[in-house]
Formats: sequence, C-alpha cells, structure tokens
Amino acid sequence: MIWKFITFFVRKLDPEIAHKLTIKSLKLGLHPRLKQSVIQINIGNLIFKNLLGVAAGFDKNAEVINKIHFLNFGFTEVGTITPVPQYGNPKPRIFRLEKDKAIINRNGFNNLGMLEAKKKLENYRKRYPVGSDFLVGVNIGPNKNSQNRFNDYKVLAENLSEFADYISINVSSPNTPNLREFQKKENLEKVINFVKDGIARSKTLNKKLPIFLKIAPDINEQTLSTIIKTAHSQKIFGLIISNTTVDRDRNLKSKKINEFGGLSGKPLFKKSTDILSQANKLIKNNNYKLFLIAAGGVSDSETAYVKILCGAHLVQLYSSLTFEGPLVANKIISGLLNLMKRDNVENVFDMVGIINNPKEAMNIAINGFKKNKN
Ligand SMILES: Cc1cc2nc3c(=O)[nH]c(=O)nc-3n(C[C@H](O)[C@H](O)[C@H](O)COP(=O)(O)O)c2cc1C
Repeated sequence: MIWKFITFFVRKLDPEIAHKLTIKSLKLGLHPRLKQSVIQINIGNLIFKNLLGVAAGFDKNAEVINKIHFLNFGFTEVGTITPVPQYGNPKPRIFRLEKDKAIINRNGFNNLGMLEAKKKLENYRKRYPVGSDFLVGVNIGPNKNSQNRFNDYKVLAENLSEFADYISINVSSPNTPNLREFQKKENLEKVINFVKDGIARSKTLNKKLPIFLKIAPDINEQTLSTIIKTAHSQKIFGLIISNTTVDRDRNLKSKKINEFGGLSGKPLFKKSTDILSQANKLIKNNNYKLFLIAAGGVSDSETAYVKILCGAHLVQLYSSLTFEGPLVANKIISGLLNLMKRDNVENVFDMVGIINNPKEAMNIAINGFKKNKN
C-alpha cells in the first residue's frame, strides 16, 4: 500500500526528476525488500534465477544494480553506456503519457561515460562476481559526435566485457541520429566484428561472452530476416526485441503524442510482440539457435505470458516500473506462476515460442489453454 502511495506521488513530478529521485532512493536503501519468488530459466551457459529483468535506460550509469536485487527481478541491463560522458538532448526530454500508460523519451544517451560505469561495475563485481545469481547485461552505444562509431563499440566492449554476463549492442535507439542504420547488413556485421574484437582484447575470462543485438520495432519483415540471418551467421547469442518506437498509434489519447522521440509502454506492446513473433517463426523455420529477450509494454503477468508464448526466453520492462511502482516484478512473477499452474506448465522453457499468433497467445493468457481449444 505504502509503495502504491509513493508511486502515485512520484508520478506527479517531472519524469526526469522522478527518475533521479528513484535512483537516489534506491541508493539510500529506500525500497521494498521482497522475498524472491522464482521462475528460473537456463539459456546457453546463462542461468537466470528469474526470467524478468529491468530494461536498459533505467540504470544508465550502473549505480543501483545491487538494489534491483531486492525488487524480484532476475537480471538488469545497465546503460546505454557511451565511451565519453554525454549530456544528451536538451530538457525536457522525457514525457509521461498518463492516459496511455506510455512514455516518450528523446534522452539521446545521457550518461556519465564508460570510465564512470567501469568504476561502478568494478565495485559491484567485488561483491557479486560474474556468474552470480543476479545477471547483469551491459548495453553499449556510440557517442553522438564520435568520429568513428564502429570503434566506439570496440572500445566499450574492451573496457566493460569483464564485468558483464552479456553484452547488448544497441543499434536501435531512435534518439541518436542514424544509429538505426547499423541494423543494415554490412554495418551490422562490422559492428559485431568490432565488438568481438573488443571482447577478445578485454580482460574477460569468457571470450565467448554472449552478445545480444537490441533492435527497433520499426522494421519490415525483410529487414528482420536480414538481421536474423546476420545474427545467426555471426554466432550472436540472441536478440532483444524491442527498443522504443517512432510510430504514433492514432488511438493514443494524450496531448503529448507529438513529442519527438521513442514511445514505450502499453502502446508499444502490440508492435513489439508482432516483431517478436515474426522473429520466433523465422528462427524456428531456419532451425537457428538464437535466444530472444522481449521488451515493450509488459506491465502484468498476462502481457509477460504472451511474450513468452510468442518466443521470449526472457522478458524486460521499464515503463511499467514508472506506472506500477517497485512491486511490479513481484506482481508479474507471482501472476506468471499462477498462470503456469493453471495451464499445467512445469518448466517455462516448454512454453517458449509455442504459439505463432500474438492474438491467440493473448487469448490463452486470459482464458487458459483448455478454454482456448474449445
Ligand atoms: C526513459 C527511457 C530511457 C531509455 N533508455 C534506453 C537506453 O539508454 N538504451 C536502450 O537500449 N533502451 C532504452 N530505453 C528502451 C527500453 O530499454 C525498452 O526497450 C523500451 O522502453 C520498451 O520497454 P517498456 O515498454 O517496458 O518500457 C529507454 C526507455 C525509456 C522509457
């Protein structure tokens, strides 16, 4: 009750101030301390005690990883981190669309830079070495005014890989001009090779550190297919689907819909799930081994269940943390456990990607498998 109350008041503040305050409170230990309920999933050599994680952008500077442990998430993704500190776009640059349970942000990779993040990660790893129960992904991207963006990815991988359970290559933020061009085949291959080179030069003991590509939802099937083929041929571990969208649904009610930037939260659910489902089909049809992390509009156990049924091994969220508050992961995990019980699912892996159609998946999430069949 108290956390609902606090969330309500924090939501009255300017979004960027609210976010700063949230990070400060977490640092000070002003957060719930939840007993972990668990939905474990193992993908490759990675063991996730819980399949739900915090998406990139929440903890840009790796400041509160050890606090997120308490909120019943199984992993977090820090960043996006750029080589040198970056202020980002002028403020205001985050907008809450209350009526639509959505956020538009045009932050533009505001962060304290690689060296600051490195210090934080180094410190964190003293207590929780790589391979600990709670996993940490490191999301990397280039500086806006970099002379050589490919090299930025390499430098970041070289400096940060030793602290990461996985690396996430951000080629999909809409707020860094032309970043999405890196999703094109030749660019993507080059970025991946630069990251691999960085990992090889880094101090990590795991030279086969898992690499995820974080992609945009604003792509057609042809582009998705090319990304997947490239990811497969380059032995990428998986994809994160998706980043925010530049599309604006006509049904949005808030006045702020025309703010420039990436839209996340509830209105992103359909679009990101459609791409996830297409990716799942392409991967299955080609017999590829690529793991999928879903992000986009997850706010309750049903939306998380749909993502899993449509192909997600892991699920991330950001926006619903703003709207629902710090108990959101607890609510989703305990709800998911109930849905699995209802549908006689013992191992979450058995449900991953078994439904080809997001609408049907939602029907199952709401009514259960049996009712759906009748
Ligand atoms: C304020 C804000 C900042 C974000 N910053 C980043 C970022 O730095 N890097 C990134 O890869 N994604 C970033 N994202 C995108 C999220 O990681 C996520 O992919 C997207 O918001 C969809 O999930 P959601 O609907 O649960 O929010 C940001 C999202 C928001 C709302």
